[in-house]
Amino acid sequence: ASALTTVTITGAGGQIGYALLFRIAAGDMLGGDRPVRLRLLEIPQGMRAAEGAALELQDCAFPLLHGVELSDDPRIAFEGCSIALLVGARPRGPGMERADLLAANAGIFGPQGAAIGEVAADDVRAVVVGNPANTNALIAASAATPGVPADRFTALTRLDHNRAVGQLAEALDARPDAVRGVAIWGNHSATQYPDVTHATVDGVPVIDALAERLGGRAAAEAWLDDVFIPRVARRGAEIIEVRGSSSVASAAHGAIEHVRDEQLGTAGATTSAAVVSRGEYGVPAGIVCSFPVTSDGDGYRVVEGLELDARSRARFDASVAELVAERDAVEALGAL
Ligand code: NAI
Repeated sequence: ASALTTVTITGAGGQIGYALLFRIAAGDMLGGDRPVRLRLLEIPQGMRAAEGAALELQDCAFPLLHGVELSDDPRIAFEGCSIALLVGARPRGPGMERADLLAANAGIFGPQGAAIGEVAADDVRAVVVGNPANTNALIAASAATPGVPADRFTALTRLDHNRAVGQLAEALDARPDAVRGVAIWGNHSATQYPDVTHATVDGVPVIDALAERLGGRAAAEAWLDDVFIPRVARRGAEIIEVRGSSSVASAAHGAIEHVRDEQLGTAGATTSAAVVSRGEYGVPAGIVCSFPVTSDGDGYRVVEGLELDARSRARFDASVAELVAERDAVEALGAL
């Protein structure tokens, strides 16, 4: 049997928290042979909901679940944790300006990053789910230094990646696992660039498969520009419109796959994650940007050397510009 892994979940009393806890305890994230200890971090208003979830976890009698602890103090909740899922965030309220939103979240992710830097395990890796996820990850990574290297912090774009795969599988009447090499570039926001340039379906370039089904290359490109890209980039809004509530189970699933691949590896397959840029593809070093990535079980590595044509480059650059503006805004607040 493997050693006990401490997993901390913030916002554990919220919707995504509720969807995450049971799957982690069931072994979906780290595999069926790794026992976990869960630490739930909430603010006082969310504590009762988290307590209720903890009672239900007990009622499942999961064999892999070796303890659940709750706290509203980051220094207690992150103590000794190897995996942190930072889900709790401040949502945009009515009339709230973007700068207010960034400031409110800096007030959450700064102290949490600092606590991770001080009390987490040496091998800690943290994924930020709470929005604005990329910039919240940047703030947390900056606050965790020098205790924890910045590249241990990532942000979730796996949900966007999976949404793109799901759209292609439907359009091409293929199984989702036949679609490979999709990439999400940029910010987890409506400016993101879901890219199929290097993607294949059953080994055939996606663009060729689309051209075949839609009656030519021009029709395939029009579908990508007018249907696929906006649908993936605005899928969160579509879910809210149809469901009457934001993405929860799919977001939790994306987070679980993000951590699983980061910890256990992708076996050579490419996925997408927002990681601290080292200047790859000309992205300013230090910002947390989504790239195509692989993992050998020891964190994500950006897939380098892919060609970006002029249209791809323009879309990617626009999303990176948004990330730079967010960074500049939080820097001006003194949050970095
Ligand atoms: P929710 O409102 O149901 O739950 C959030 C929970 O976080 C609440 O229980 C709240 O009390 C708690 N919380 C707030 N501040 C906290 C703090 N400082 N420390 C600990 N807990 C705190 O929201 P939901 O649906 O669970 O979504 C959570 C976040 O995930 C949101 O920011 C949402 O925008 C984001 N999200 C990100 C996605 C992605 O792909 N990156 C996809 C879907 C949602």
